[in-house]
Amino acid sequence: MLAAIKQTAAWIQEATNHFTPEVGIILGTGLGDFGEKIEAAHILDYASIPGFPVSTVEGHKGRMIFGTIEGRKVVAMQGRFHYYEGYPMSQVTFPVRVMKLLGIEYLFVSNASGGINTSFRTGDLMIITDHINLMPNPLIGPNLAELGPRFPDMHNCYDKALIAKATAIAEREGIKLQYGVYVGGTGPTFETQAEYRYFKAIGGDTAGMSTVPEVIVARHMGIPCFGVSVITNCGLSDELGDHEDVQRQGKKAAVRMETLFKAMIREL
Ligand code: HPA
Repeated sequence: MLAAIKQTAAWIQEATNHFTPEVGIILGTGLGDFGEKIEAAHILDYASIPGFPVSTVEGHKGRMIFGTIEGRKVVAMQGRFHYYEGYPMSQVTFPVRVMKLLGIEYLFVSNASGGINTSFRTGDLMIITDHINLMPNPLIGPNLAELGPRFPDMHNCYDKALIAKATAIAEREGIKLQYGVYVGGTGPTFETQAEYRYFKAIGGDTAGMSTVPEVIVARHMGIPCFGVSVITNCGLSDELGDHEDVQRQGKKAAVRMETLFKAMIREL
């Protein structure tokens, strides 16, 4: 595994003229257009990268964008690998391992999730303050001791200093933020009403199907993480969300998400 990670990283370094990104960004919901805002120096389709998981989803835009935004060198992943798609955890988290070897010092992530905290509304942005992992742990198996410890500490999993920075930026920019615990399940089903109640009972504020594996692996390697979730539905409400409203909220959330991420990157 370590050899595969190193090989892929070496290939990318060659292909990008030894571009050294400072920030790795996983572009989930809310950051769909963020890739276009990056002054791209190199764009690599996942399919062209040796050792990368092969995307099974047709028409799926899977690529790494290397470039500059707000004066900082970043690598952005457009398209991530979900466990529910059938990839083993080693593949889901492979790109994060590679980005570490390329030099990233921070990992920024966005995603969509279903609110279970009843004070959350569709379209809200939630700063992920912590998570509960209900998926298989991606670190199960032989430890890659060169990259991190056997028993990683998960305190400060979502970096407190980065959260404080986000809070200050949001206040300044007039962006409303929620804060909470993201419960990562395997999906692909959304939760039953009983499961949403269970997630709430164990301390969750939202339910989602991504992010947790990537963040665990990043923390294994000591990378500070920052994650924001767009609340796209409210799990405990009796009604299904109005689809158009969700879309509209999602678009509006994207503007706030981009503003927040840009300022975060600028002020690192
Ligand atoms: N559950 C799990 N994942 C999700 C949800 C949800 O309600 N909404 C968006 N992603």
